[in-house]
Amino acid sequence: MSEKILVIGANGQIGTELVNALRDKYGAEEVIASDINSPIYAIRHSGPFEFVNVLDKDNLHHIFTKHQPTQVYLLAAILSAVGEQKPKMAWDLNMTGLIQILDYAVEFGVKKVFWPSSIAVFGPHSPQENTPQYCVMDPNTVYGFSKLAGERWCEYYYEKHGLDVRSLRYPGLIGWRANPGGGTTDYAVHIFHEALKKGSYQSFLSANTALPMMYMDDAIRATITLMDTPAEQITIRSSYNLAGISFTPAQLAEEIKKLIPNFEISYAEHDPRQAIADSWPKSIDDSYAQKDWGWKLEYDLKTMTEDMLKNLKNVILA
Ligand code: SER
Repeated sequence: MSEKILVIGANGQIGTELVNALRDKYGAEEVIASDINSPIYAIRHSGPFEFVNVLDKDNLHHIFTKHQPTQVYLLAAILSAVGEQKPKMAWDLNMTGLIQILDYAVEFGVKKVFWPSSIAVFGPHSPQENTPQYCVMDPNTVYGFSKLAGERWCEYYYEKHGLDVRSLRYPGLIGWRANPGGGTTDYAVHIFHEALKKGSYQSFLSANTALPMMYMDDAIRATITLMDTPAEQITIRSSYNLAGISFTPAQLAEEIKKLIPNFEISYAEHDPRQAIADSWPKSIDDSYAQKDWGWKLEYDLKTMTEDMLKNLKNVILA
């Protein structure tokens, strides 16, 4: 049976890359990109687009009726830093939006749903090194506890309704095709832009703040691999830990300096994102992903930095 895939939140950092990867895999016409805002350049000309507001039930119902999707990727969300400025709005979008999609997925017989979770589901009492899949979770950001509650809803819909919903706890994501929007890990993308444009960068996180990160190519491959895995191999219906590469701003700056020797990094004195980063894991144990669906990381800090600078340079010079 052919697939009809709806991606909601297609303009975002993950959406931009995922839409094009899915169009390559399934054919342009089979992947409907959708967003509350006008399509960005990268997806505008590569296939169909619909305006969608996940909080507008009638609008969503119309889109499901019109396209009868077999797979839905719900990427629309407010991230950690912006979520602290707009807590109620973040809760509403991240939670009401998810439950609405889960309901329509059941009603319209959608075969598979993907929904992203995050390292933000962990909190100050979670083990910070090699954080296991199952442990104390006391997230203290609205984004973090909306993701944790969302994971519980996903598993609940799988158990109660048999909905085939799959999820990954992404680390901070780094890519050159699209910018992140309002997260705590955004420094690791901004630093590349500023290194190429100005030769210097002021990090809003301190020099030794280690966080798990991942190059976007690996994140997209993980997503598609998880979605391609036979249902019986999926043993986690909340969300899978995904480890990536752990490094600090100072270590990333050192790696950039190998290619841009004059690059200089400085550090902001006070930034509210520091407390968020301090409450998150420094590294992750993703052995369930390795065991259940053969997950293996490709990019390390060195190859990621080289690839980022090479590609971003072309974008900036263009
Ligand atoms: N990258 C996200 C953020 O920083 C975490 O999922 O908010």
